[in-house]
Amino acid sequence: MKRILLLAILSIFGLNNFVFANEGMWLPMFINRLNYQDMKKMGLQLTPEEIYSVNNSSLKDAIVMLSGGMCTAEAISKDGLLLTNHHCAFGTIQNNSTVEHDYLTDGFWAMSRDKEIPAKGMTASFLIRMEDVSDVVNAKLDGVSNAERNPIIKAVSDSIQAAATKDTHYNASVKSFFDGNEFYLFVYETFTDVRLVGAPPSSIGKFGGDTDNWMWPRHTGDFSMLRVYSGQDGKPADYSAENIPFHPRHHLPVSTKGVNKEDFAMIMGYPGSTDRYLTSRGVELAVTVDQPARVKIRGTKLDVWKEDMDQSDEVRIKYASKYAGVANYWKYFIGQTEQVKKNHVIEKKKAEEAEFQAWANTAEHKEEYGDVLANIESAYDNIEKYTLANTYIQEAVFGSEVLVMSYRLMGLRRALEAKNPDPIQLNAAIQAVKGRLDNFYKDYNAPTDQKLTAAMLKLTYEDVNHDQLPAYFLDLVKKNKNDFDKVASYIFEKSMIPNRDDLEAFLQKPSAKKMDKDPAIQLLGAFLGKFRGEISAAVGESYSALSVGNRLYVAGLKEMQPMRKFYPNANSTMRLTYGQVLDYFPRDAVYYNYYTTMDGIIEKEDPSNDEFIVPEKLKDLYNKKDFGPYAMEDGEMPVCFLTNNDITGGNSGSPVINANGELIGCAFDGNWEAMSGDIFFEKNIQRTIVVDIRYVLFIIDKYAGAKHLVDEMTLAKKSNPAVIEAKP
Ligand code: ARG
Repeated sequence: MKRILLLAILSIFGLNNFVFANEGMWLPMFINRLNYQDMKKMGLQLTPEEIYSVNNSSLKDAIVMLSGGMCTAEAISKDGLLLTNHHCAFGTIQNNSTVEHDYLTDGFWAMSRDKEIPAKGMTASFLIRMEDVSDVVNAKLDGVSNAERNPIIKAVSDSIQAAATKDTHYNASVKSFFDGNEFYLFVYETFTDVRLVGAPPSSIGKFGGDTDNWMWPRHTGDFSMLRVYSGQDGKPADYSAENIPFHPRHHLPVSTKGVNKEDFAMIMGYPGSTDRYLTSRGVELAVTVDQPARVKIRGTKLDVWKEDMDQSDEVRIKYASKYAGVANYWKYFIGQTEQVKKNHVIEKKKAEEAEFQAWANTAEHKEEYGDVLANIESAYDNIEKYTLANTYIQEAVFGSEVLVMSYRLMGLRRALEAKNPDPIQLNAAIQAVKGRLDNFYKDYNAPTDQKLTAAMLKLTYEDVNHDQLPAYFLDLVKKNKNDFDKVASYIFEKSMIPNRDDLEAFLQKPSAKKMDKDPAIQLLGAFLGKFRGEISAAVGESYSALSVGNRLYVAGLKEMQPMRKFYPNANSTMRLTYGQVLDYFPRDAVYYNYYTTMDGIIEKEDPSNDEFIVPEKLKDLYNKKDFGPYAMEDGEMPVCFLTNNDITGGNSGSPVINANGELIGCAFDGNWEAMSGDIFFEKNIQRTIVVDIRYVLFIIDKYAGAKHLVDEMTLAKKSNPAVIEAKP
């Protein structure tokens, strides 16, 4: 009773919104001002400069953004060895697997550096510095209309980026924060020669599969290792056998001391996107309309793929990475929709909005903020009418691979538009398509895609308002008497895309006429025309009203709560989150310990289910308790642990760092009960799932026999050297 009263009083002053230590994805350049005292109280032993410094080497120099924000990795040796998740290298592992060399099933370990495999397309970016450029950008936005804002922001950002990278080999980006209220510059050094060094088999790296994904208790060895290479001069260079390992300015020492409940733990990495300032109406639209559609479409996609993958190893390998990507967010959306309800997120948002509205209604704020929430509401009213069309284009139309490839051909179609196409432009468009062919066809199975295309078009036809579908599509369906297998077989028989030879022959002598007769290209063109024409026109203004509304809402919240420490939404820029190693109660009377051991792997083993196969060699090591120096003091082998840090997608692979700046684990997931956490942080139950570094070392050394990789690291000694050696 008292507590409630106290909260009510505090809330009048807006003080209940003080963030708690574990919530928040903080910008490293501000921790000294905003977080350092708090971190020290929690046990941190480092100085702010040891975490983030522009002039001296600091933790930030060991943190790597992979492929522009897909994942995070960390440097763990002076020779550019990186640790990240298995699921972050999954595409590379898949891409290099064949039925004969199936690294997905068997794992891969380079026993010497010349055996490391180039991870085509993967990049590794190190942050050089960040800078607040809000004043520069906002100065240009004074008195500017909403329509003019984005082009101006783009132009100013371009010039800031150009100035920041002039005469360097760096790249830079200016990003918007707090929904367009603030702007920051990030300067990176980006390496393009990244190689796969090692990965456990999927039965370790993806143990538990989609059943355990997003859940605790977890027993996944979700890690892999990469290496960054530079040219002989130490600067970024494209792959060459002559390249040398890059020497990062800092690499994380690895601690085998282990973790205890409530130990200080922090994570640095590149969270991709959160929506913590989304309004209740936005949440409602997401969980009632958008996400159920995504779940339905993705579920169908997975069923179609799985059927073919189960029949053939070749198809299984081809579709493994696509399947994993679709499955990961299929389950994410199921979880988010469920937990938004269970955690009463809409109610909590509404309470915050009521407080805001009361404040905005006061004479002082009315003019600026009085209508903000009402404007957001009415923008959503219109957007809602087109939400399904939008979702189905993204998920179902672009779910069909033949339609995706058709989309890739649109540039060429435009180049052919002119009566006498400019030969330089035309050639560039042809080359752009040719450059994509290897990647596309390598993992393409036309019969699978034909089934998928039938299923995706059927769902689109059934679920989207026909006014919002293109006439060409409706006609095609009618002509085939609503038989979608027939629709798909018509497309696949007549289109040049399903067969690489046909498309290549066309590229020898491309013509607009031929493209316009291709049913896949026609269909995609029709969807695009409808979408970019009518639908965009119908919702464009609502989206811009929404972005104005969101900007003002966040600005108002900050003004309303001057004492609150705000942190910006994730946007693929470097962040730090700090907290503790911690257990939790997922529901009434149920307790989850903060760590798992190999006992749980054996408990979960199920040879009849490919998600729960335990490799013989792992069982052997377990039975002999042959854990090397990596076991806990009680002789058990730890696998994963929990922290209450605040992370999201993009953080995958991030280092979990102890009070002394040493690596204790690699973050790879969030927990089911807090799947609504990207929208509203759940202080009591939100957890980060981490693979314990001791399990990583054990797998590398004892399972894979790649001790040379452990030797390359800087190991921090065990405080209690009660080493449990192998006893048979
Ligand atoms: N949920 C994790 C993430 O988004 C990915 C885990 C991958 N494992 C799996 N079984 N699919 O970072």
